[in-house]
Amino acid sequence: MAIEIHKPNVAILISGRGSNMEALIKASKEPDYPAKISIVISDKDDAKGLVIAKRHNIKTIIILKEKYNSRIDYDQALSETLSKENIQYICAAGFMRILSEEFIDKWWNKIINIHPSLLPSYKGLNTHQRVLKDKMKVTGCTVHIVRKELDNGPIIIQFEVPVKSDDTEKILSKRVLKMEHKIYPYALMLLSSKKINLDNDIVKYEDKESLDNFLTSI
Ligand code: GRF
Repeated sequence: MAIEIHKPNVAILISGRGSNMEALIKASKEPDYPAKISIVISDKDDAKGLVIAKRHNIKTIIILKEKYNSRIDYDQALSETLSKENIQYICAAGFMRILSEEFIDKWWNKIINIHPSLLPSYKGLNTHQRVLKDKMKVTGCTVHIVRKELDNGPIIIQFEVPVKSDDTEKILSKRVLKMEHKIYPYALMLLSSKKINLDNDIVKYEDKESLDNFLTSI
C-alpha cells in the first residue's frame, strides 16, 4: 500500500514570464520533493506564466490591482485566497508588487523571493544593467526570506555568476536566470522540509554539507 505523505501547499506569485515558477513546478513533480505547488496567483491577467501553469495543470487565480482601492485591501484579498487554499508557503517569482507590512507579518517566515543579484547589492529593478554599468566582474542570484524592506531578508541561498567583458544585459540575464532556476527549487526544498532555522535572522542549515555539495554540483 502506498503511503500518503502530506506535503505543504505552496503558492507562487507571478506577474509575468514565469520561468522561475516553471522551475519550481517541474522540481515539485519529483516524488521526493517535499512541497506541492497548489496554486499560481498573478496580479496581471496577461502574465505569460499563467499559460505555463495551466499547461502543468496548476490552478491559477488572477487578482487584479485595479479592483482594490489600496495595497492593504489588495493584500487582504491575497491573504484570504491563500488561507482558503490552505497555503503554507509562498514563493514570489517575478511578482512586481511590494507586499504590505501587514501581509508579511501574517505570513512571517513563510514568504520567499528570488532576486537576480548578490543581495544586499543591487536591490530593486534593472539589476543587470546596473551591474554592467559598474563594470562588476561577478554578480549572481539570491533566494531570501521576505522582510519588510524591499529585496531584503535572511538569505537562504546565493550563487555567484561571472560577468564577462563583452556581456550585454540579455546575455548576462540569461546566464543568471539559468542559475535562478536551480537555486529556487533547492531553497524551497530547504524551507518546506524545515532543513533551515533562523538564528538572529540568519539562516542556519541542518545539513550544510549537502548544501555545499549542491552548490558545487550546479
Ligand atoms: C527573475 O529574474 C527574478 O529573479 C526576478 O524577476 C525575474 C522573473 O522572471 N525577481 P520569471 O518571471 O521567473 O521568468
